[in-house]
Amino acid sequence: MSEQKRIPQHVAIIMDGNGRWARQRGKERYEGHAAGVEPVRAALRAAARNGVKYLTLYAFSTENWGRPEPEVDALMELFCRSVVNETPELVRQGVEIRMIGDRSRFSEKVQRYLAEAEERTAGGATLKLILALNYSSRDEIARAVRRIAARAAAGELAPERISETTIGEALDTADYPDPDLIVRTSGECRLSNFLLWQASYAELWFPEVLWPDFTEADFDRALEEYARRDRRFGLVK
Ligand code: FPP
Repeated sequence: MSEQKRIPQHVAIIMDGNGRWARQRGKERYEGHAAGVEPVRAALRAAARNGVKYLTLYAFSTENWGRPEPEVDALMELFCRSVVNETPELVRQGVEIRMIGDRSRFSEKVQRYLAEAEERTAGGATLKLILALNYSSRDEIARAVRRIAARAAAGELAPERISETTIGEALDTADYPDPDLIVRTSGECRLSNFLLWQASYAELWFPEVLWPDFTEADFDRALEEYARRDRRFGLVK
């Protein structure tokens, strides 16, 4: 259905360029991240208005722990503050917050805030906002393989029965369709360990706009770009 209307069911965004946006204005990096909250709202509004059902945002990668401690701390604070402040509006809009990534490395406080946001927004039927937090594809795949291997070692799963479906079901994204469109802002043209398994047939778009400058109009442009793409999934027309 959504294919016929050329509206992607699932859009995933690598929100890049916060640091450069801050540097261009003589600001601290964390100010760039703080300025990245309004574009999240804009992307959500545009996704809901267009009938997109899943919006995944790459908010914190497993590699991001290597950033200077004040920046990591500021990001953690921002996540906590944002999920608390935004939850009432998300509930009103019918947005359900979900997460992918390994949360066990976050502090108890951050884990609690995230879990509360998930609980409070549970059942929202307009769209799912999936936050990738302490996420990377290689880590996700390694965790999935460990789970599958444990089942095989316990005699619950014969190795020759391990299929693409088995793997898909062991990933953090088991409940969601693959992304149809992946957008990375700031002009960088790479996936940086984001949804590598799931991106097999995704369309990719790399606009120049830095994430803090991203607007609803940019999201609409991404959908226009997607509508022009000829998706063949390895087949011929
Ligand atoms: C990448 O830009 C951005 C991040 C690592 C953080 C993304 C977080 C937000 C946009 C905050 C709001 C998010 C939520 C979910 C409330 P960068 O710092 O790598 O930019 P640079 O490449 O220009 O340095």
